[in-house]
Amino acid sequence: YEYGELADEPRMFTEILEQPSSVERALRGRLDERFGTAHLGGLNLDPRELRAIRRVKILGCGSAYYVGQMGAGLIEELARIPADAEAASEFRYRNPIIEPDTLYVAVSQSGETIDTLLAVQEIRRKGGRVLGVVNVVGSAIARAVDGGIYLHAGPEIAVASTKALTNMYVAFSLLALQLGRVRDLSIADGKRLISGLQALPTQIEEILKSESHLEEVAARLAEAESMFFVGRVRGYPVAREGAQKLKEISYRHAEAYQTSELKHGPLALISESVPTVAIVPQDELTDRNVAALHEISARRGPLVVVTHPEVDLGELDALRVDVPKNEVELDPILLTIPLQLIAFHAAKALGHDVDKPRNLAKSVTVE
Ligand code: AGP
Repeated sequence: YEYGELADEPRMFTEILEQPSSVERALRGRLDERFGTAHLGGLNLDPRELRAIRRVKILGCGSAYYVGQMGAGLIEELARIPADAEAASEFRYRNPIIEPDTLYVAVSQSGETIDTLLAVQEIRRKGGRVLGVVNVVGSAIARAVDGGIYLHAGPEIAVASTKALTNMYVAFSLLALQLGRVRDLSIADGKRLISGLQALPTQIEEILKSESHLEEVAARLAEAESMFFVGRVRGYPVAREGAQKLKEISYRHAEAYQTSELKHGPLALISESVPTVAIVPQDELTDRNVAALHEISARRGPLVVVTHPEVDLGELDALRVDVPKNEVELDPILLTIPLQLIAFHAAKALGHDVDKPRNLAKSVTVE
């Protein structure tokens, strides 16, 4: 796109296109190639304090919660610290146990989401330590936490979040790397992940080039009233976010499921009018994922498969969306990008105002 050409495009679209540069901003000055680690000055934690962390609990709402789930997976994988994510809107209401050796992380684009802010205040009231992963500098959550990571995504205006979510994942990758490198993550693995992070902007660029194909895929999906998004382990939060984005702006029903759980119930709903968008990365679960796709196909369910060029889908009748392969731990970032464009084009095909979806606000500041 040339300068000025995007002036009349929805903000969501321009924010999607900005991602190669916003990811670069999130990485700038934070990678230490020599020691294969990240430097996050704002954590306000020295290596000894980082090593003393026994558990990580991530809190956020909506899409931020889903990225938090991706982040928890990353932290467990790289730092081998038990980690999980929970909806901040629920957390306070179950009288949670706040432990001194748990690191709490509040994740929010706006920094103003009331449920996330109240969760932070509840944790701090009980003496817990909270970090923020926040985009808006000086926002309420940024002011309420003990330290944190700014996303540097730039202003995000569209209600449907895109570039801020991508930078959240990048921020969690940096946190996982730093936590990992004060523990058992080797320098070689640290360097491998740094190369992977540095490759992201160019790889995102490549995905954005496949926009016309994604527009066709979106047009097909927009015909369906209801659909599934499925993935396993690293791919499951990707599926959750893909379904969320589509619901928010196209008003089509989309349900995210773990691919492995399909056979325990929802397979009953699969038919030629209920498509499935499947996240099938090249990883240790590829064969199992492909086997599940055959189950869907046997029931005449239309398939869109978001995958890597290395994955052989055999005879499967599916619309294929390839994303470039990165390090396995970083693949979720790239698998999410085409789902943003699919949601955008589905909403556009249905004639909706993409930037102002009905019933939704950019940030939810009342309970
Ligand atoms: C994202 O597309 C949504 N509009 C929504 O789920 C959002 O992520 C959520 O409300 C949290 O907002 P925050 O990141 O500003 O806290």
